[in-house]
Amino acid sequence: MSSVLKSHPIQPIKQLDSRTLGLVKAAKMARKKAYAPYSQYLVGCALQDGRGKIFTGCNVENASYPAGLCAERTAIVKMVSEGGAKIQHLVLVASSAEPVLPCGMCLQVIQEFGPNCTVTSVNPQGTHFRQFKFPQLFPFAFTPEKLKG
Ligand code: THU
Repeated sequence: MSSVLKSHPIQPIKQLDSRTLGLVKAAKMARKKAYAPYSQYLVGCALQDGRGKIFTGCNVENASYPAGLCAERTAIVKMVSEGGAKIQHLVLVASSAEPVLPCGMCLQVIQEFGPNCTVTSVNPQGTHFRQFKFPQLFPFAFTPEKLKG
């Protein structure tokens, strides 16, 4: 197991503060809306932006598989299109037995809008979580500064 995972163990949900529990509830509700007829892998996401507003998303698959969208990017696109600029906290509820982390493409999009956000991942039953500061998940991110040469 990686040292990042070792130093961020799976913990019982009762350790979470009430604000985060609210995001967990919203992510679980969003997961129920997942459109995943091809993978049957349901994912829900809830995020809080810099103004304290909450946005949710689910994965939305497509018969043309690469056209599918992850739950995280659904929520982020909703936030930006409603005037939000910064992710403060992103909560993910996926379908694996243990809490999972955002995929590579989502890491890159989270980097753009929440490079210092907190990421909390919860198992499908909502009994356990794992929590990280985003830079621990994506330490060598491609950032806008790199475009400058
Ligand atoms: N998925 C997400 O929504 N978020 C992730 O971080 C990982 C994967 C979705 C994409 C696809 O619809 C399904 O889960 C299986 O990969």
